Amino acid sequence: MNMRRTIIAGNWKMNLTAAEAVAFVEEFKPLVADSTEVEIVVCPVFTALDAAVKAAAGSNIKIGAQNIHWEESGAFTGEISAAMLKETGVEYVIIGHSERRQYFGETDETVNKRLKAALAAGLVPMVCVGEVLAERESGKTESVLSTQLQCGLNGIPADEMEKIVIAYEPVWAIGTGKTATPEMAEETHAYIRKTLADLFDRDTADKVRIQYGGSMKPANSAELIAQPDIDGGLVGGAALKPDSFSELIKNAIK
Ligand code: PGA
Repeated sequence: MNMRRTIIAGNWKMNLTAAEAVAFVEEFKPLVADSTEVEIVVCPVFTALDAAVKAAAGSNIKIGAQNIHWEESGAFTGEISAAMLKETGVEYVIIGHSERRQYFGETDETVNKRLKAALAAGLVPMVCVGEVLAERESGKTESVLSTQLQCGLNGIPADEMEKIVIAYEPVWAIGTGKTATPEMAEETHAYIRKTLADLFDRDTADKVRIQYGGSMKPANSAELIAQPDIDGGLVGGAALKPDSFSELIKNAIK
């Protein structure tokens, strides 16, 4: 039996000011108050974290950040440390999103360092992996994912793995309206779980939650989440409006 709790996180990217984040949370709270089967997270921009944490206090909505640096402090312009995030009260953090890899030069090595900093601080990391279109079309999806997982998870002990969430996001499906079919997504999720079993062991692999991301919306969340190895979602566009995000979550309840 699948004991993994469904986790659905909204990645707001560079959208919603602090005031807009608070308005979202206030409107969203009653809409998802009964959706307690699902772990619900929203990830606002840094300047909205504090306000979002306060607005969500006492509800079933958790708050996450979109990035974290591995050093405690210092000359790293534009970055933010684990302690700074913890101070706002966030509990989750997205690591290595494809936009960070594509536009800001993140690599599997920096993902690994950020991941270790998040774990050390007790934040729940959502580590993003995924292939670009050319890799999918040339049959390289599996090798790309194995490298990302092997390097990204380098040095992580097996007993820490269940604290980590993996977000599989085929890059060609992000913001494009092109979703991987549930069967295609499941095949890749199963491959990721098999890779985790090879890197660690079967028992550890079975505990890790793997989210799907890339044009997830109210109309497809049910069939995606119904797949045995899909344990949640990382949602961009459809997480920017309380009504669509709450509908996506309700449809995803297994
Ligand atoms: P999307 O974005 O849902 O808008 O495709 C997903 C993501 O980038 O996390």
